[in-house]
Amino acid sequence: MKIVITAGPTREPIDPVRYISNRSSGKMGYAIASAAVARGCRTTLISGPTCLPAPDGVEMIRVTTAAEMGEAVDAAIADADALIMAAAVADFTPANPAAQKLKKDRGLPSIVLQPTRDILASVVRPKKTFILVGFAAETENIEAHAKRKLSVKHCDFVVANDVSGFATGFDSDENIVTLYFQSGDVVKVPRADKRSIGTRIIDAVFELTNNH
Ligand code: CTP
Repeated sequence: MKIVITAGPTREPIDPVRYISNRSSGKMGYAIASAAVARGCRTTLISGPTCLPAPDGVEMIRVTTAAEMGEAVDAAIADADALIMAAAVADFTPANPAAQKLKKDRGLPSIVLQPTRDILASVVRPKKTFILVGFAAETENIEAHAKRKLSVKHCDFVVANDVSGFATGFDSDENIVTLYFQSGDVVKVPRADKRSIGTRIIDAVFELTNNH
């Protein structure tokens, strides 16, 4: 079984020294990758910029922008059995990043944004039995948003988490998630360390694969 996992934020350049990004630490995606290695999977971890060391046993691919992450995902899934998109991919990128540092004495810059590619919604499954897992990082109406992402992005299941709290979500070592499956099944995973949650997610991928 080969599993590709994305993690962390992406960085979208404004100029050579500034960027737009988000608060993702990468911890959840790295924990899933460790769990996949422990389950005996060939594991590719495609990570945006984080402070975390590569987990033992993974093939590590480091990227910076959403566009780079998309290209790395396309290449890595060609011979894979599953993709887990745990990365917090930037939704917008500056349309025309400046080649040189913007100088403040030139006045306030206006930064025009354009959408990035939605990687999860646009990947082409390399085979029928391929498992696609999305994340839904929400601050409100978690169930409704997660179910919408499940259907719009054609995932086999979505891992929803509430990132409004202090103790769970971004940068914390624990998380509380709910898995929403295409079948309509809903599995609530109570508060646990991210590594245990990673194992639950990998187990769910294995169960779906075995049912194919
Ligand atoms: N995702 C992606 N490419 C993007 C944006 C998001 O592949 N350009 C993936 C994320 O990795 C995640 C899922 O889509 O698995 C949902 O991401 P999320 O940020 O929660 O939702 P969005 O689709 O960005 O919608 P919104 O910002 O409105 O919540």
